[in-house]
Amino acid sequence: MSFLFLHMMKNNLSSYELHFFCYLLFAVLVFSHNHGNPANEIVDIINKNLTDQKFPNLNNNPGLGCMALQYIESCKGNCTDNNVVNCKTLDDDFTEVFGPNCGVELPTFGTITGHIVGCQRKYLEPSLAFSQVLVVDKKSLSVLRNKTHTEVGVGLVGHHKGPFFWCVLFSNGKTNSTFVLENRGAGIEQKKGCYSGSSIPCSGGKKNSVVLLNIFSMCYVFILLLTIM
Ligand SMILES: *[C@@H]1O[C@H](CO)[C@@H](O)[C@H](O)[C@H]1NC(C)=O
Ligand SMILES: *[C@@H]1O[C@H](CO)[C@@H](O)[C@H](O)[C@H]1NC(C)=O
Ligand SMILES: *[C@@H]1O[C@H](CO)[C@@H](O)[C@H](O)[C@H]1NC(C)=O
Ligand SMILES: *[C@@H]1O[C@H](CO)[C@@H](O)[C@H](O)[C@H]1NC(C)=O
Repeated sequence: MSFLFLHMMKNNLSSYELHFFCYLLFAVLVFSHNHGNPANEIVDIINKNLTDQKFPNLNNNPGLGCMALQYIESCKGNCTDNNVVNCKTLDDDFTEVFGPNCGVELPTFGTITGHIVGCQRKYLEPSLAFSQVLVVDKKSLSVLRNKTHTEVGVGLVGHHKGPFFWCVLFSNGKTNSTFVLENRGAGIEQKKGCYSGSSIPCSGGKKNSVVLLNIFSMCYVFILLLTIM
């Protein structure tokens, strides 16, 4: 990339071409941003782990994913030195707060059959988040391998400097008819974090994409300066 950039500078390209190069770079960044939802990657890792042990696959449910994000968002700010999250959530919060905040249609509410939460000081890639944050002991492994579950949703959120929080919710609902999001599946847009089952990219919750966009902005300013001089 930097070689290409130097080469272009040498050849003294017109500002039109430099702008074109910038938009190309921007398109690549937006593309990788949209297609790197770590919550969906964690669902894939969960299903791979289950399949390898001959357990059935779980349906990736966006309504459940969004509520996992809402749930962990409500426990945020409390990651102990042992990476334990302290949640003081009531069962009613799902029907009264998290569901409505996601736009889950109330008549489609199902039963939540299990949950796993965890936190870390820093952002971890999906496979590490699975093995070092979420499924770390016999207890969480037995929650994962409970044959009652049919559906899964993953949410994660964090700040620039951490800590980061992850949540997995399980349900025994029927595929595509429980935790249905209103507005033809779009639901209500979330201000922070990522959740599984949706094609919506993460909202300011993932460190890497923020860093990439900052690099892009700096590069763009630099090129603008070059074209002015
Ligand atoms: C974190 O959890 C501890 C222990 O439950 C509690 O005393 C403290 O108030 C919590 N802090 C925040 C910011 O929620
Ligand atoms: C599986 O989950 C259901 C629903 O939460 C629970 O009642 C049951 O005890 C769990 N089974 C095992 C083996 O943990
Ligand atoms: C599934 O995950 C558990 C917990 O991280 C791990 O111990 C086990 O080796 C994994 N199994 C497979 C087949 O990947
Ligand atoms: C659920 O919906 C998805 C996406 O619309 C579809 O691909 C899938 O076949 C559906 N599954 C069932 C069991 O209806």
